[in-house]
Amino acid sequence: MSDVLNTSEIRFSSPDGLPEEYKSLLVRMLSIQSRIESEYMLAADRTLMKPLALAPTPEDKAEYAAFWSDEVRHASYWMKLLSDLGVTVDEKFMSSPMPIYVFEMRDQAADWIEYGLFSFFADRQGAYMGYEWVGCSYEPLAKIADRVHKEELGHAAFGYRLIRRYLQREGERGRELLIKHLARWYPAGLDMFGQSGSKRQYDYVKWGLRRRSNEQMRDEFTEEVNTLLTKLDIPIPDPTVGRRFS
Ligand SMILES: [Fe+2]
Ligand SMILES: [Fe+2]
Repeated sequence: MSDVLNTSEIRFSSPDGLPEEYKSLLVRMLSIQSRIESEYMLAADRTLMKPLALAPTPEDKAEYAAFWSDEVRHASYWMKLLSDLGVTVDEKFMSSPMPIYVFEMRDQAADWIEYGLFSFFADRQGAYMGYEWVGCSYEPLAKIADRVHKEELGHAAFGYRLIRRYLQREGERGRELLIKHLARWYPAGLDMFGQSGSKRQYDYVKWGLRRRSNEQMRDEFTEEVNTLLTKLDIPIPDPTVGRRFS
């Protein structure tokens, strides 16, 4: 890193008087999170009603509703943090393109198993990001990060349970369908961490808004996901196939 900044010394307790570069990185990072998660609050037809109708058992429906309710609260966190920084999450904000394509895949899901895959991959990535913010340099974000991190871990575990239940219920047909879907969801999951060579990730690290690089996070994520797939006796897809970023 070029600048000699000790991240442990950087602390901002409020939105007032933030350095320009820091503020712009913070707004960018929170905007990505808010664009993604505000859909739970603002597009309940897609993020609640559709999956509730697809969920095959009362247990699946109840777990999905609890997950959705956490996400609506997360949306409120990002909205408040952004509003304090002068950014309003309104219709115009929400009309910007989805920053991560796995969220579009969720909306196109035709089968319940895809909601399991979504939480298995996307909420797990959410947990990785939440972990980056625990103890981060922007105190209003650090204050909620621990809770967000723990809840995202819970959502990732929900995704795993949902897949396991599906496999138990559907047998060989379910297994084949899961393997077929994984060919799309596995690369999308790894792609969530962005380009390994992007410059901005190091700016985030420099300012104490993140700790790990994209590549480091993706490697840890891949190992975790592979271990879980092996536990389900599902073959691990080739991590280089179908990828848009690396
Ligand atoms: Fe969330
Ligand atoms: Fe989540």
